Amino acid sequence: MKTNKKRKLKKKRVLLIIIIIVLIISSLIYFFIPKNYGYKRRVIEVFKEENIYEKIQEKKKYSKTLEMAVLNNNFNEKYLDEYLEINYVENDSNFIDDINKLLSLGYKSKEINTFYETIPNSISVIINNNYNANITNYIGLNYFIEDNLERYINYENNEDKLNSVYNTDEIKENYTYEDTVTFVNAYLDKDYYSNDIKLSDEEAQNIDVIVNKYYKLSEDYEPYDLVTIDSSFATENQRLRKDAATKFEEMAMEAKDSGIKIYAGSTYRSYDYQKNLYERYVLQDGFIEAETYSARAGYSEHQLGLAVDVLNSKWEYLSENDNEYEWLINNSYKFGFILRYPRGKEYITGYMFEDWHFRYLGVELATKVKESGLTYDEYIARKM
Ligand code: DAL
Ligand code: ZN
Repeated sequence: MKTNKKRKLKKKRVLLIIIIIVLIISSLIYFFIPKNYGYKRRVIEVFKEENIYEKIQEKKKYSKTLEMAVLNNNFNEKYLDEYLEINYVENDSNFIDDINKLLSLGYKSKEINTFYETIPNSISVIINNNYNANITNYIGLNYFIEDNLERYINYENNEDKLNSVYNTDEIKENYTYEDTVTFVNAYLDKDYYSNDIKLSDEEAQNIDVIVNKYYKLSEDYEPYDLVTIDSSFATENQRLRKDAATKFEEMAMEAKDSGIKIYAGSTYRSYDYQKNLYERYVLQDGFIEAETYSARAGYSEHQLGLAVDVLNSKWEYLSENDNEYEWLINNSYKFGFILRYPRGKEYITGYMFEDWHFRYLGVELATKVKESGLTYDEYIARKM
């Protein structure tokens, strides 16, 4: 009985030792014998031939992108780390070719993954242009327009992008990638008048319509609801669209209550009137100068019946040093008017600082534009 028990115990001990030895050996095998991490044997052979098998062991992971690059014979050891992080895209026969091109342009795996996740149809645009570090930033903006991608890249890469008479070092210093997307959306990468977007008469009637050196009104557009502004607040026979006129009168009355006198000096102007005015300015000051302060016919907000040139108490065009100007800057948005051509934004609006020209947008929109701190051209470029 006793010896039987002893024998059983001995057997158990031997078994335990065997198990431990097996465990030790298998973990040694696990840790020290090279593994293939799921790569096909053919790929492993290439890794060995190229002397990167050890590196793969260090990385300890499978990457379909790497495997497919090897199988396509389109594998560059220099980009090993990047292949490992690039998510493979199925059903794209150019994938490996394209990612190699992107890598050679200087893009990193993180950027490449973003491109394939968000703008897979624009990969060729990226490949056919120089490296641009801001593309992922552009994509993140809610006013990014995929169709404009190539123009963003070209604009950003163009040293002269802001080359206008108004360009200053301060503007260059504060330039951001948001500006690239905004400005291109606003067509600032194109010459003025080069891509006229013709506004239909129906569009022209919208209170938020934008008119500038890219958006043009038709020759015969005339607002249907022009009314004459009360003569206590305007020079003779000044007309605006109904809402704008009412709000201007309200604003002038409120200003008056605060001891500030303002008058509407120039309001609605027909296409023909604007044409004569512009031509007169060109004769008077020359073409280049006239372009900085006068719109060509069809390109003026005055034709909308929604713009007003404001006079001070002496019936002179408002100047930034006037109390009336200060009052308007602080209050006009409450009545739906914004300063349309601010100082320092000439390279965006296309016009010199006009301390007198206010545009009616309605209270809600004028408030939003004012709060945004943007010109109306930029605001539209971010909202369209
Ligand atoms: N002065 C502004 C730009 C106009 O002519 O409409
Ligand atoms: Zn004006």
